[in-house]
Amino acid sequence: MNNKAIGLFDSGVGGLTVLKALMQILPNENYIYLGDTARLPYGTKSKETIIRYALQCTEKLMENDLKMLIVACNTVSSVALPAIKEKYPDVEIIGVVEPGAEAACNATKNNHIAVLGTQSTIQGKAYDKAILAINPKATVTGKACPLFVGMAEEGISQGFLAEEMAKHYLNDILKQENKPDTFVLGCTHFPLLKDAIQNVVGKDIQLVDSAQTTAKKVFASLQTTNSLAENTSPFMHFLTTDDVAKFKAVGEPFLGISLDKSHVELVDL
Ligand code: DGL
Repeated sequence: MNNKAIGLFDSGVGGLTVLKALMQILPNENYIYLGDTARLPYGTKSKETIIRYALQCTEKLMENDLKMLIVACNTVSSVALPAIKEKYPDVEIIGVVEPGAEAACNATKNNHIAVLGTQSTIQGKAYDKAILAINPKATVTGKACPLFVGMAEEGISQGFLAEEMAKHYLNDILKQENKPDTFVLGCTHFPLLKDAIQNVVGKDIQLVDSAQTTAKKVFASLQTTNSLAENTSPFMHFLTTDDVAKFKAVGEPFLGISLDKSHVELVDL
């Protein structure tokens, strides 16, 4: 048993989809979540900037006595995970790319997988590498869908606009002769648009959500090391680098429950 907190961070509120998945299967854990909302989006920034921001977020979270760090951001997991692991070799650090890649490889039948993400995630090709390491026969088609991020934050995640945007990004892939049978939602914001994307791609295509698979990986890892918590009144603490009220308002749909403002703290990195 280990009652220390699990730290997780994202460029903003998107990583709350990972926290939501974690809370469902690990409800007795303490969580400290950092959302770098002042500097979102990371997905359009250079590799150097993403690494610098990611190390600052990690350093802030490491001020707490953590048992594990989860990089709940696809862009950071794609671009900066090796740099974080190198700087903190003694802490268990889990990103969202490998669990997502594993789930996609389990789901595909025709070995053709599409990865949807931010520009940096797609350019970094971390999903391609992770998928090919598991299934060398796979074909990976990456597609940057940056406007999905703003749409999810604006609450435009279903209906006409969301579906038109999904068509705009995905029609070329869907017209391919041997089109992918599995799409990875390789960005923390995309699970909010899951229904709209599913309506556009059709029900025969499987959508893989890296939040769910990451939570399963965390559970398995804590179980293996005998480190599951048994907190009777577990806490959730939130750190944000921009407005607290906005973090609450934009974050709630991602977390799926109402967020107590007194648990959100404004921090500077
Ligand atoms: N959290 C980012 C990701 O999962 C999306 C938002 C951003 O671009 O910072 O890739």
